[in-house]
Amino acid sequence: MSVECCAPGPALTFAHETPADGVPIEELLDRAFGPGRFAKSSERVREFADFAPELSFCAWEGGRLAGVVRMWRVNVGETPVVFLGPLAVEPDLQSTGVGGRLVERACAAAEAAGEAAVLLVGDPPYFERFGFTGAPEAVMPGPVEQRRVLMLPFTDVTLSGPVRPR
Ligand SMILES: CC(C)(COP(=O)(O)OP(=O)(O)OC[C@H]1O[C@@H](n2cnc3c(N)ncnc32)[C@H](O)[C@@H]1OP(=O)(O)O)[C@@H](O)C(=O)NCCC(=O)NCCS
Repeated sequence: MSVECCAPGPALTFAHETPADGVPIEELLDRAFGPGRFAKSSERVREFADFAPELSFCAWEGGRLAGVVRMWRVNVGETPVVFLGPLAVEPDLQSTGVGGRLVERACAAAEAAGEAAVLLVGDPPYFERFGFTGAPEAVMPGPVEQRRVLMLPFTDVTLSGPVRPR
């Protein structure tokens, strides 16, 4: 667990997800994404991927869950990578930097763990600020707008082929 005292935005404590966090996380995801959240192609990845709790973070504002990011181990073709998602912030705390701090932490943890890249499906205008670029040859399970499939490589890696279990 770590506390950031001086970052802009709300005072947050960051911690890895524990089993006890499951209920507040589900409630936050429902509020942030609404009823369509289980239809996303990212959900298909999470059905087969291995959860990586040591790369995943909850942001707490006191005892209240402010945001969450989850990470999963997958392969793209033959290349092992980490899949990021969901990323969600409590609606009344959005645009205060919580999401950005979660993305940066999760990606830094993945890089420190020796992972080659982070892959996600998201809005390019949001994720490009963290260095994500298009992954045109990564094939998600199920329909997806390919321009929203993004990667953050930590090494000179090419992501090509189906997203599948590691
Ligand atoms: C997307 C989300 C995680 C961003 O977290 P956040 O804490 O609100 O974002 P930050 O405070 O780090 O960044 C805010 C900035 O990102 C921009 N932004 C937020 N969502 C964006 C999006 N989908 N596309 C482009 N820009 C976006 C804001 O306009 C703001 O811009 P500014 O810095 O120029 O003012 C959050 O809005 C959320 O939970 N949304 C609902 C769930 C969702 O869509 N998750 C993403 C799935 S990939």
